[in-house]
Formats: sequence, C-alpha cells, structure tokens
Amino acid sequence: MSSDTHVLDHPPEGAAADWTIPQNWDAFTAEEHAVWDTLYARQIALLPGRASQAWLRGLDLLKLSDAGIPNFTDLSERLMKLTGWQVVAVPGLVPDDVFFDHMANRRFVAGNFIRRPDQLDYLQEPDVFHDVFGHVPMLADPVFADYMAAYGRGGRRAMELGALKHLSRLYWYTVEFGLIEEADGLRIYGSGIVSSFAESRFALESDSPNRIGFDLKRVMRTEYRIDDFQQNYFVIPSFDALLRATVETDFAPLYADILAQPDIPIARIEPGDRVITHGTQAYARERGWSEGAA
Ligand code: PHE
Ligand code: FE
Repeated sequence: MSSDTHVLDHPPEGAAADWTIPQNWDAFTAEEHAVWDTLYARQIALLPGRASQAWLRGLDLLKLSDAGIPNFTDLSERLMKLTGWQVVAVPGLVPDDVFFDHMANRRFVAGNFIRRPDQLDYLQEPDVFHDVFGHVPMLADPVFADYMAAYGRGGRRAMELGALKHLSRLYWYTVEFGLIEEADGLRIYGSGIVSSFAESRFALESDSPNRIGFDLKRVMRTEYRIDDFQQNYFVIPSFDALLRATVETDFAPLYADILAQPDIPIARIEPGDRVITHGTQAYARERGWSEGAA
C-alpha cells in the first residue's frame, strides 16, 4: 500500500523518474535468499485449504516454488504472457500518484529488500516477500488483473475528487485483507493475510473478528488499523462480483454520498450488514483497543 507512512516527494538517489530501480538480483546474499525460503515454507504449509483457488493457481503458474527470491525479469516474463502485468522494483513506499500510474499501466511495484531473519513475523513496510508472495499470484488471475489495473486508473480520479481516503479503504479490505466465499467455505485472497503466518489462521479461524459480506459503500466508509490483526474482514462472493461492483460502477456519485456521511468505527456492525461472523472482538479487547466494544 502506498499511503500509509512517510514517503519522500522525489525519487531517491539512483532511482529513475518513475521511482523504479534495477532489481539487481545478483546482489541478494545467500542469507537473504534463505529468509525467503523460510517464509515460503512456513506459508505453504498453511495455505492449501485456506488460500483461494485463484491465489494457489497463480503461485503454481508463476513457479514461485523455485528456491530463493524471485528474479523479476523471469517473473515478469511469465506474468506478461498470462495477464500483461510486470513486476518492477522500487526502494520502498512511493507517492500515491506514482503508485497509481504504475498500476494503471500494469506494473506492480515491489519493495527491493527482504526482512531480516529476526523480523519473520512482522514488518511495518512491505518487503519483497509480502509484495511478491502476497500480491503477485493474484495478478496471474485475469479477472483480478483487470481489477488492479482499473484500481490504478480509479486512484487518479479519487485524488481529483478528494476521495482517496475512501478508495484506499477499498484496497485495504480487498487487495490486502479480502476473503472470498468458495464452494468449500471462506478462503483468503488478500495479500496481507497470505503473507502472514499468524493472520492466515486468525482471519479464517478466530472468533474475534467480524466477517461481513462485501458492500462497496460500507467498505469505503469503514476505518481500519494498519498495525495488527484486522477487526473486520469483508467477504466477496466471487471476483466477477467484485469487478461488477467496482470496475463497472462510476464512483463519482458514490464519493459524493460517502463524503457527506460519517466514517464507521472499525468493529461496529451496521444495520443492513450481511453478517457471516459477529466477532467477539476478544483479541481487540485484550489489547485495550477502544473499538473492541462489539
Ligand atoms: N470505477 C471506479 C471509478 O469510477 C474506479 C475503480 C475501478 C476503482 C476498480 C476501484 C477498482 O472511479
Ligand atoms: Fe500489500
């Protein structure tokens, strides 16, 4: 995600005008490749039966099971054939307009560093493991690939309409933390969940969070937290349904409505919600979060 923390207003030394840098794959050390392999092995043991069919298929099609940090040249070549997307390296978070411009042109920006061995469980900024293992398998799905490119175009528009905060919530609750209802039950497609050892179980199995049927306006009004497990997950019935509700919908009148309405506190259940799980919010209360009063 691009809009979370401190971002420079110009590309750093050595980066191009569009903020990209060479991946310089040869510079990764054996220790760094080993961190990828450790993270990969932990997640792959958990994800069959938990991750969505689309994500699992993407992982397979892109051959992400090969050892070590993926080489973006090879990865982009495979991805390009499937959906026209590429993966490009950036030094870290980039400004919103840069992020949207890359996305609209089917370039996914990935952080060019990997967490240290003592940071396996948690990291504030997206590294190459989150960005590639979490996001890139979904980009191999033709429907989701279209969603992401349309989001990039929508980002520009939201900036002009003063609605970026609301559009960002859609990204958060779908791309990063989305769940989907499949024939066998709920599955994960959000990259923030599939790349997290603890949250990939919490999101599906804990009694604490709410799980609520996806509704576009509802999602765009709902606050979120960036520093711990989510208190809410929104569940889509299918990627086609997500596409209809977003790509095929003009957001300008929706933004006008939403900008005149109050935000919804993180854990509050609203009249009209399709509640799949009414969470206990026990996890939130243990941490003393005020929104934990379910
Ligand atoms: N349809 C949205 C608009 O009119 C753009 C969008 C597409 C946003 C897909 C998110 C995802 O602004
Ligand atoms: Fe992400």
